[in-house]
Amino acid sequence: MKKTLLLAAVAAFSSVAPVAFPALPGLIPLPVQVQEIAGAKPFLLNTKTRVFYAPGNAGAKAAAQFCAEAFGLKAEVLKPHGHCDAGAIIFDVPAAGTLDFAKGNEAEAYVLAVSENHIEISAENFGGFFYGFQTLSQLLPAGAKSGTVPACKIKDMPRFKWRGMHLDSCRHYQDPEWIKKFIDLLASQKLNTFHWHLTEDQGWRIEIKKYPKLTESAAWRKGIGFGLNPADSTHYNDKGQYGGFYTQEQIKELVKYAAARNVSIVPEIELPGHAVAALSVYPQFGCTGGPYEVMMVGGVSDEVYCAGNEAVYGFWQDIFDEVVELFPSEFVHVGGDECPKKRWKTCPKCQAKIKAEGLKDEHELQSYVIKRMEKYLASKGKRLIGWDEILEGGLPERASVMSWRGAAGGITAANAGHDVVMTPTNFCYFDYSQARSGEPRSFGGFVPLEKVYRFNPTEGVPADKHAHILGGQANLWTEYMPNEKHMEYMIAPRISALAEVVWTPRERCNWDDFSTRIADQYKRFEAAGINYRKPEGIVIKETSDGVVFDPDLKNAKIVFTTDGSEPTAESAVWTGTPLKFENDKTVTIKARAILNGKLARVNAKTVHMPKAKVTSTMGTVDENFPPRCIDGTLATIYWADRAPRTGDTVTAVFEKPQTAGTIRAVTGKNETGGGSDRLVNGVLEISPDGNAWTEIAKFSDGIAEGKIPAGTRVKAVRLRATGTQSEWLVVREIEFGK
Ligand code: ACM
Ligand code: ZN
Repeated sequence: MKKTLLLAAVAAFSSVAPVAFPALPGLIPLPVQVQEIAGAKPFLLNTKTRVFYAPGNAGAKAAAQFCAEAFGLKAEVLKPHGHCDAGAIIFDVPAAGTLDFAKGNEAEAYVLAVSENHIEISAENFGGFFYGFQTLSQLLPAGAKSGTVPACKIKDMPRFKWRGMHLDSCRHYQDPEWIKKFIDLLASQKLNTFHWHLTEDQGWRIEIKKYPKLTESAAWRKGIGFGLNPADSTHYNDKGQYGGFYTQEQIKELVKYAAARNVSIVPEIELPGHAVAALSVYPQFGCTGGPYEVMMVGGVSDEVYCAGNEAVYGFWQDIFDEVVELFPSEFVHVGGDECPKKRWKTCPKCQAKIKAEGLKDEHELQSYVIKRMEKYLASKGKRLIGWDEILEGGLPERASVMSWRGAAGGITAANAGHDVVMTPTNFCYFDYSQARSGEPRSFGGFVPLEKVYRFNPTEGVPADKHAHILGGQANLWTEYMPNEKHMEYMIAPRISALAEVVWTPRERCNWDDFSTRIADQYKRFEAAGINYRKPEGIVIKETSDGVVFDPDLKNAKIVFTTDGSEPTAESAVWTGTPLKFENDKTVTIKARAILNGKLARVNAKTVHMPKAKVTSTMGTVDENFPPRCIDGTLATIYWADRAPRTGDTVTAVFEKPQTAGTIRAVTGKNETGGGSDRLVNGVLEISPDGNAWTEIAKFSDGIAEGKIPAGTRVKAVRLRATGTQSEWLVVREIEFGK
């Protein structure tokens, strides 16, 4: 009887149009299809709820047990012709084909159907069952083990197979307990791959039985390093050294913990660069023989493994022998990035190897290293993946590429038929800052939440090569994150944006919708004790139409003042219309959101209104709209969105006419005048009424300056192109002098 019910549910489902903005709690990542059942009573989850699983499917059983434990319940096998009581959560296997998903990642697909009497989670494999449970958790109030679950039908499947998060445990070590919290966080966002960076210049973190010095000594450095405050971490040993390592027993436990949450741990053992910690205890494996010391600063060291020394290959193989036993993952990551060739160029052993193997240069030597390791790992049943530098000098036939220096390396590899994971710095580097100011010290760069949300792993990849894009991943390089709290701050909420773009179909990814749903995710972070970055509140933005407010949470009610006072619940409410002020006026705007009935933090900005109304026959790049060239400073600009053609104009109309003095127009990229993007062939003209124009100067090297003739009233000024040019146009400022 059960099977029939499920079939009926799935059949009814496919005829229902997807609901884009469900009034359910904000689900992240957004499922493929969500259907609310309007007016239907919710399911009440409480201590009387029973959890069943279909016999004969290990995934259903494991997920049911996980679910039962999470809600403080007990899982029971569903008897073949058994009767399900009302109030049951049932993990069931549908008849073959009923999950009717188009091509994709069916292995992690599920259907979740909630009615007053039952919750059914249907899937074919553990991953699907587990994600059905994760979605069910998000339907309950944040962090709750009981409560009402709204009636709905959800049909879901990930867009990509590799949904990853990387963690650098080398620059700073994290406790195994926190690694579990990290895995829980990944699982809650339906990420399934934990790329674990375990070896580095600044510390070796994985116990290798054959080489005990790696953890006795190479796991420790003299101090915290990176110019950080030593008190910002607790990871010191009794000798006051800084670091730590994971024993093989701890690793096995973490691998098991991850697997129970559908997370695969991909270990990264770096070679042939980023190896100074290993060299500090085995200096014979470097080109110079050392001595080497575990590094205290970041960057790229010239000291790398000697690729001409056969013993080094033996060392690597010994390490991989132990690594492959610990990690059941399909892939092993071998690093391969940032390996300077300086030592190899002058090392007799490396040069002899180049000659003996008939290699062209040191880049081919790097390629030789990767090819050899690929063969070795393949002999152990593993697939090799490495950073995009492994393309240099030729990629091994079966290797997969992790593209970090933009997407170009990944696109090249996909075009050549290799599998690729996209993790470009400009979308996926969570060591970059989340705002332009007011943030803790970071690596630099700027990857705000919205930028992560713009990440599309297949962008720029030819359609017939999309199948080679396994997915996407964010990376957490921890140089400037001395403790776990700080790491959480850098991960959350950006992990949610990443999770959605690697799970949800592209056509359903919508920033405004996401930034509304994320309010519920913030509550879930709070409940899980995650030190997430709190929403900024409101960005106060100037546009050519006036001042607008851009709140982090799109549905927020915004109150504001323009007289410098603190906004209160009684202040003016923004209606969404741009605020306009008099020309040349300076205004201090203060705004805050009202979230859940509470006044959020005040955001303030002082804006200086342009001195004139400015229009252009050309468009605008970014926020560099036309009035920016009449705001009293050379620093802000009007940037036209193309090269000017004959007759193009930029026109400023003033409120009060000017009657004397000089007028100067400055164009070009350089703040001091000149540079590219000048007006090459053009004139500066004045008008008493905005209709009749008189030329007062010609542009030369981007600048035109003229005098207002005595007795003339200047109501308007314009720049007019008298030729067509290839440079685009920046107008820095139109200024008046005595
Ligand atoms: C990298 O960020 N060096 C892969
Ligand atoms: Zn060498």
